[in-house]
Amino acid sequence: MNDRASLRDSTNKAFYDADSESYDQERWTSRAGRLTNQIQQQILSDLCADWVEKRVLEVGPGTARFSIPLLRRKNRMTLLDISSGMLRKAAANIEAANLSSYVEAYKEGSIYDLPFEDGSFDHAISLNVFNHLERPADALCQLARVIQPGSTLLFNYANLHSYYWPVARQINKRKKAVARDVYSTWEKPREVARFIRAAGLELVRLVGHVHVPQALEAYPVTGVVRVLDFISRRDPLSRFAPFHFCLCRKIA
Ligand SMILES: C[S@@+](CC[C@H](N)C(=O)[O-])C[C@H]1O[C@@H](n2cnc3c(N)ncnc32)[C@H](O)[C@@H]1O
Repeated sequence: MNDRASLRDSTNKAFYDADSESYDQERWTSRAGRLTNQIQQQILSDLCADWVEKRVLEVGPGTARFSIPLLRRKNRMTLLDISSGMLRKAAANIEAANLSSYVEAYKEGSIYDLPFEDGSFDHAISLNVFNHLERPADALCQLARVIQPGSTLLFNYANLHSYYWPVARQINKRKKAVARDVYSTWEKPREVARFIRAAGLELVRLVGHVHVPQALEAYPVTGVVRVLDFISRRDPLSRFAPFHFCLCRKIA
């Protein structure tokens, strides 16, 4: 890993270590946060319906918001995160849900350097992580490397060419999220399509998702966002959705 990328990793780690205790409360308990969580859970359940009793790697699980529904389906999971604080919180949430027996390992580490043999997992998932990565193409190659040929992985990214373009452009200039001291970047869909191919993957499904930005949570926008989100699931309007969920298959 080059020096800049490892510095970025350590700032991500410091940010998420500090954020781990308040993350669930701050992000997912407001009205808008509950709506975003509910929609994202629905997308996960649609796209990964056939992930049952499989070996699954999750990178950047945070507090295990998406790990828990996958564990409920008896998937045997390995959770890797750069933040030890997040891993502790994930383990506590999984324990509280009585699902620890399905976890194979918790590992602290970086997506750029996954400590697993090629083809170790049936599936891999990394949600709401790529918008914090400086080298998404390298990260995707790592995820593709560790799954079996012919099987699928799910990641999402923040789409620069979306309804939120004016703000996204500012974020890309500052390389920081709005009101949060964490690296943030929005990608051009054409570039993401290129690095999906470069990782030896094919895109199986792309699902658009419109979230309520935290800056707008105080305003009565959830109704509008709900409609925008609903019409953004598929082409042509998925193109303008601020988040793209990409289900990809590793070419055999
Ligand atoms: C916005 S949180 C998303 C957490 C969870 N996936 C969710 O959507 O609730 C981003 C997560 O990615 C982790 N992360 C950031 N950079 C990483 C890296 N280079 N390698 C592994 N994990 C990373 C953070 O520690 C954090 O847990």
